Amino acid sequence: MKTQVGIIGAGPAGLLLSHMLHLQGIESFIVEQRTRDDIEATIKAGVLEHPTVELLKQIGVGERMVKEGYVHNGIELSFGGKRHRIDLPELTGGKSITVYPQHEVIKDLVAAVLANGTTIEFGVSDVSLHDLESTQPGIRYTKNGEAQEIRADFIGGCDGFHGPSRQAIPANLREEHAKVYPCGWFGILCEAPPSSDELIYAQSDRGFVLVSTRTPTVQRLYFQCDPKDSVDNWSDERIWAEFRARLANDDGWEIKEGPIFQKGIIAMRSFVCETMQHGRLFLAGDSAHIVPPTGAKGLNLAAGDVVLLTRAITDFYRNNSQDGLDGYSTRAVKRVWRGEHFSWWMTNMLHDFEGEDTITRRFRRSQLEYVVSSRAAATSLAENYVGVPFEGIT
Ligand code: FAD
Ligand code: DHB
Repeated sequence: MKTQVGIIGAGPAGLLLSHMLHLQGIESFIVEQRTRDDIEATIKAGVLEHPTVELLKQIGVGERMVKEGYVHNGIELSFGGKRHRIDLPELTGGKSITVYPQHEVIKDLVAAVLANGTTIEFGVSDVSLHDLESTQPGIRYTKNGEAQEIRADFIGGCDGFHGPSRQAIPANLREEHAKVYPCGWFGILCEAPPSSDELIYAQSDRGFVLVSTRTPTVQRLYFQCDPKDSVDNWSDERIWAEFRARLANDDGWEIKEGPIFQKGIIAMRSFVCETMQHGRLFLAGDSAHIVPPTGAKGLNLAAGDVVLLTRAITDFYRNNSQDGLDGYSTRAVKRVWRGEHFSWWMTNMLHDFEGEDTITRRFRRSQLEYVVSSRAAATSLAENYVGVPFEGIT
């Protein structure tokens, strides 16, 4: 089997890449280890940056997002018993973010990719990459017990943090930077009305809380936890007691409680593989970089990579130019580092870490007070939160 671009992974990165290539008349083929039902039901991100929203609209997959997503014009930072609003459009020349769940983005993209006539091979196993330094690299995999092979001009390694693509780059050539945080996030979905019109990022002595939302009847909440903890240790009553304790405030505001129907713990790490290409393999999204979720950046960084990679591959076919491909890592990693730094900064400002000295805690409080009292500091947070522009798209 031959195609122009073989893509490993049908997450946001792989699906976006396939669809954007199609719009440029370039053919692709996707292999995905999970089933369609599984990828369309996995609960992950909620926040889409301004550039991602504009991109999805521009490439014709934004219709449902515009109809069903929620535009948020602010976020709140809560600490010391008080909430402080950061007005996003006011500080960024009119930009906002949209709350629209990742699995809905996935559904929209899968529908678009299949309508393009592109194959997504779901439920494959034993995926491996071959001959990356040749002009016809290969992807081998097993489907229904049978060995298969695709040959392509390029491979898009869009298989997330644990996939095989990054590992296919020889270890001695990979430049990687990693940091693991001593905490995780305990995330729940519950049936309740929204507790707030906007997302609340709350710092407390008991640890961080994020109050997010999904729909008028389903809420998404997170609290900082021990990454080694187990959801089995947390009854619904214990979870709500923890939220109440961490969100205690002077305004009489209370979190709205309801039946919890999903619980999970996620680890937190910062990771960048600066070597985002090797021969004809190009990494995009979580396969090359991971952020702690505090800045809501992961999916949005994946979209930034895909914009650059699509342009580079298009330029190769259309203008016989190698420049975009050769410069891909260097250009992509610039926006990645901005998101990485912002996510690390938000994480440090909002989480308390066990064993910290008291001076670090005082620095944190001073930083929070500065962000909510200085227009310059609030603007810095806001322009990173709504997302720095993709090259050529605002
Ligand atoms: P993935 O979504 O990981 O997709 C990779 C795909 O490759 C998967 O479908 C996987 O099954 C497949 N794959 C893996 N291995 C193989 C293999 N061997 N063979 C074939 N296929 C393979 N980001 C934001 O921007 N905003 C947010 O608000 C936000 N909140 C988050 C909240 C949570 C709780 C979590 C967990 C993440 C959040 N993120 C957020 C991050 C975001 O979800 C990820 O950055 C995003 O999913 C990355 O997309 P991707 O396509 O690069 O990788
Ligand atoms: C959500 C996740 C995030 O990481 C974040 O910073 C904001 C919102 C969410 O899942 O809704």
